[in-house]
Amino acid sequence: SIVYLNGVMTPLSEARIPVLDRGFIFGDGVYEVIPIYAGNAFRAQHHMARLFRSLAAIGIPNPHNEPEWMALINQVVAPYGKDDQMVYIHVTRGVAKRGHAFPKEALTPTVFIMTNPLVLPSDAVRDKGVSCVTMEDQRWLHCEIKSISLLGNVLAAQHAAEHSVVEAIQFRDGFLTEASSSNVWIVNNGVLMAPPKNNLILEGIRYSLIEELCAANNIAFVARRIERKEVMEADEVLLSSATKEILPVTVIDGKTIGNGQPGPIYQQLYQAYQGAKF
Ligand code: PDD
Repeated sequence: SIVYLNGVMTPLSEARIPVLDRGFIFGDGVYEVIPIYAGNAFRAQHHMARLFRSLAAIGIPNPHNEPEWMALINQVVAPYGKDDQMVYIHVTRGVAKRGHAFPKEALTPTVFIMTNPLVLPSDAVRDKGVSCVTMEDQRWLHCEIKSISLLGNVLAAQHAAEHSVVEAIQFRDGFLTEASSSNVWIVNNGVLMAPPKNNLILEGIRYSLIEELCAANNIAFVARRIERKEVMEADEVLLSSATKEILPVTVIDGKTIGNGQPGPIYQQLYQAYQGAKF
């Protein structure tokens, strides 16, 4: 496949970065994952805004304005026509002699963009719901930044993989945060709830989308701290991410959630999500 790297379209197999890139050395960079439906970047402005926030949060000068970013994305996805894709955008501080603090000289950020087929959960998976495990959130305290330093998330995802489940649902000091690469929602008595948007979670682009879908479909939504017990005893538990859309969780730590079936709020939100795509 053809990728974008620092101003040039190049075959992935030929894309190269210097080993002193601070992304490689320190994980010093940020990223985005944007779903492309039928050739169109979904919620593109929201993803751009989050990319710009992430860059600003770690003091990387934004190398492009929004139209330039959109043109680059379109350039990368165009060869794949109407196929659903997921675009990966990766920006690092650039290349410099190794030293932890930001180099004094101005660096040119490294910009990498690739696209892959968007493989969504199958209908069979959606009909059954997925299983998760729980674990303590062992990540840092700037989870709101979409950082490429993902070791905490990698270890959480590996924990899930070792239990043959799709996600690890994390708790910090007894309260729900999020999963390794998705936001987590619970439903109790018809009310949808999620942890508040703060430094303890990445605000998924689907977070505000789901808030909008709730408002449009008369689903009550409350953002508040959620205890572990509330998750385990919820009527429904949902995951959301660019690559999962909205996915029902029916088993956590081997225990059945609700009646063990994807619930009515999930069904309603999933239909609404599909309707919002085009
Ligand atoms: N992950 N929380 C974390 C830690 C995430 O990594 C993600 C997304 C989300 C959901 O955000 P969104 O709705 O914008 O996809 C929440 C992407 C898909 C990834 O790392 O591949």
